[in-house]
Amino acid sequence: MPTLHADLDHWRTLPIKQQPSWTDLDAVAAVSAEIASLPPLVFAGEVDNLRDRLAKAAAGQAFLLQGGDCAETFAGATAEQIRNRIKTVLQMAVVLTYGASMPVVKMGRMAGQFAKPRSSDTETRGDVTLPAYRGDIVNGYDFTELSRQPDPARLLKGYHTAASTINLIRAFTQGGFADLREVHSWNKGFAQNPANQQYERLATDIDRAIKFMEAAGADFDELKRVEFYTGHEGLLMDYERPMTRVDSRTGTPYNTAAHFLWIGERTRELDGAHVDYFSKIRNPIGVKLGPSTSPETVLELIDKLDPEREPGRLTFITRMGAGKIRDALPPLLETVKDAGATPLWVTDPMHGNGITTPTGYKTRRFDDVVDEVRGFFEAHRAVGTFPGGIHVELTGDDVTECLGGSEQIDEATLATRYESLCDPRLNHMQSLELAFLVAEELEKR
Ligand code: PEP
Ligand code: CO
Repeated sequence: MPTLHADLDHWRTLPIKQQPSWTDLDAVAAVSAEIASLPPLVFAGEVDNLRDRLAKAAAGQAFLLQGGDCAETFAGATAEQIRNRIKTVLQMAVVLTYGASMPVVKMGRMAGQFAKPRSSDTETRGDVTLPAYRGDIVNGYDFTELSRQPDPARLLKGYHTAASTINLIRAFTQGGFADLREVHSWNKGFAQNPANQQYERLATDIDRAIKFMEAAGADFDELKRVEFYTGHEGLLMDYERPMTRVDSRTGTPYNTAAHFLWIGERTRELDGAHVDYFSKIRNPIGVKLGPSTSPETVLELIDKLDPEREPGRLTFITRMGAGKIRDALPPLLETVKDAGATPLWVTDPMHGNGITTPTGYKTRRFDDVVDEVRGFFEAHRAVGTFPGGIHVELTGDDVTECLGGSEQIDEATLATRYESLCDPRLNHMQSLELAFLVAEELEKR
């Protein structure tokens, strides 16, 4: 692989976590070189636009909505599933925009969310122990020796699956499907439920407002297309590094696999490989912060990742847990505010609220998700900072993975349609319900 900036590879000399134990390193190097020769998936100019949008959100003039699977799968990259996820995010965005009269920056955990950090390198079932599933870009979910073997060919398949996903995202969001005059049609095909009906009423209001503006002669080109950005956890360096390219306009490295990347809770040590690599790329970046994060750590992360304190550069995605956020978040907000930094603060109300049922399902209670969101807004109101966005695991399908919501999914129901290979996602209806609750909080802001 050609060297870009020698410095860009400094991470290779640092301790690194959560990488697969590849057996054939030559094969990994060959695939990485091939990926490095393939076209970028995003353009640096788009990435710069996103940074501007996020700067607005950090300043309280916009709100970020990030949503998608915990782990995308290759088999799940179908037209129907991608479309349902996009529709769900668009519907949530309309609810937020209308409710809060504020621009919403739309972003999928999509087109590259294939690699997963795991709490253990191995998984044991009965008396068989095999490598843990690390996401489709590394190995297979089936519990067999062959499938769990990390396979470098999957890196290439990850690239191509991301490419076809982002292609469809672009087609849907630029080609008329996301036109605000279609606001009713995004609701079609989903099972009828109270959240849908509430949405229908809102869509009728929007329709009426658009017709009024049209009759008054307003020009609606703005409504025909939406900006829809992609983001994923920047975890697997054998994929992220070859997707990093120097932009010919500015001479700076961009990760061209996605507009936005974040560092997970498990790989954000200050002297580790990921933080170093992220400090060198020009994309807007995020860092997950769990409940044990100290104020000092947050300041050190700012110094490393955003030394210039550039608006829109750095997003903190807090995932504290509903029971902890009201204690754990305010001191971080205070410290950062006192230091004069203005990162974008986003809530991930999913990852601090995991539970396992007696029957063995990994799940989350919708009420805990809602409670963490409310705690997030309360903390910002108390400190005087801006609650700038929400990051959720969702799907447009009617799965039964999270407990509760107005459909009242209970433990027995989980088994009926539990499809996630990793964390439980909000289904279409729970996602819409959450959007209405967030809109209420935003109105109070
Ligand atoms: C995730 O976003 O799927 C994830 C693993 O989150 P975290 O790093 O916050 O645990
Ligand atoms: Co997850």
